[in-house]
Amino acid sequence: MKTVQRCDDCGTELGPGDTAMACPKCEGLLSLVYEAPAERGEALRARFDSRLVIPSAPVIPNPSPVIPSEARDLHSSGVWRFRELVLPDVDSADVVTHPEGNTPLLARDSVAQWCGVDTLLMKHEGANPTGSFKDRGMTVAVTQARRVGASAVACASTGNTSASLAAYAAHARLPALVLVPSGQVSLGKLAQSLAYGAKTLLVRGDFDACLRLARDAAEKLGVYLANSINPYRIAGQKTIVLELLQQLRWRAPDWIVLPAGNLGNTSAFGAALREAVALGLIEKSPRIAAVQASGAAPFAASYRDGFRERHTVRADTVATAIKIGDPASYSRAVRVIRETNGVVLDVPDAAILDAKAIVDASGVGCEPASAASIAGTRELASRGEIKRGERVVAVLTGHVLKDPGILLDYHKEASRTKYANAPTEIDADLSAVERVLKLSRTAR
Ligand code: F0G
Repeated sequence: MKTVQRCDDCGTELGPGDTAMACPKCEGLLSLVYEAPAERGEALRARFDSRLVIPSAPVIPNPSPVIPSEARDLHSSGVWRFRELVLPDVDSADVVTHPEGNTPLLARDSVAQWCGVDTLLMKHEGANPTGSFKDRGMTVAVTQARRVGASAVACASTGNTSASLAAYAAHARLPALVLVPSGQVSLGKLAQSLAYGAKTLLVRGDFDACLRLARDAAEKLGVYLANSINPYRIAGQKTIVLELLQQLRWRAPDWIVLPAGNLGNTSAFGAALREAVALGLIEKSPRIAAVQASGAAPFAASYRDGFRERHTVRADTVATAIKIGDPASYSRAVRVIRETNGVVLDVPDAAILDAKAIVDASGVGCEPASAASIAGTRELASRGEIKRGERVVAVLTGHVLKDPGILLDYHKEASRTKYANAPTEIDADLSAVERVLKLSRTAR
């Protein structure tokens, strides 16, 4: 069986090279369907494990006679290492890889204690090449753009998707067009899009308006759309889960907690867990907790309704990455929450910023939206939903330097924020340094 794209709702099938981003019959979301690998369980785990390479190892100067060089390049990516579950029939010559993935799974006692859980690991997707998990989907989407002979690629974004698309398009030498809400994208992300050479459009409107416009442009102007409604993006993002399971030696945690905006990642996580159980990679699925910011929480509102109604809101939150009022992958994400006995919750901006300050002060650091995972973990632990002794993996989706503006505001507003570390201006003399040093020693 060749890879096909299939509508989640009515089952209509499209060829792998079809660039439609929704079912032509019912407008449902499309998923990739491919032949499952012949191996199961231990054999498949062993195949993936055999490809683990030390990311910093010199690939070219020390060629191994047993691994052909093209395969070796793919092995060094934390996405393509799992290619049987991403895009099994890809020709390695088409793959546009940085490489990406191979992100760390970090334990910090201070963060676990703040959350009130015994075992907390942070999967830090900010360690990807452009500083967010988007690179995992983008390597696949831009590879597919190359396979279908796209003349240009485009996306709507709250900032990270655009930074990632800009970088991968540059690598593939494809022109990129990115549409972002004017005045609502953090400094680091906007700077990246410009730096990597994307044509950057500051749209007078919110993210939801940008996405409508990008979909229109893709349909009518023939550019290849790289948003997470693109099933190739989702296929790549599944590897966040596959990689963390591999790092845990295929012993699944009890919970995976992630921030939720447009719900592409929630959908990808669910697909990965579904396949991991079906293929015997793990025995039992973890529960997924999707965390939204209270000012941008349409999915949480629908969850509280038992998913009877699809809510939309006018989004407002400091976590600009997840400032989304009408999530595109809603129906897929509902299925994921149901299948994994998952939960959806929302946390206020103040809790997100405090969680971020705790993660930052542990030396790990993350962007505001990522800290929703940590604030959400604390909330679930305080409700008793996450029980003591349960193992939690919280996903940090983006790097601390993505949004320096919010960070500086938090630390400079020491009178209003809980964990501020305000800078001190001094005269250029040693006694001033000594005074500050004494003060900080007595404060400990
Ligand atoms: N965390 C970060 C740092 C993000 O950038 C995003 C989404 C999410 C979480 C939520 O993931 O949308 O799949 O539910 N950012 C998109 C963008 C919307 O354009 O960069 P989601």
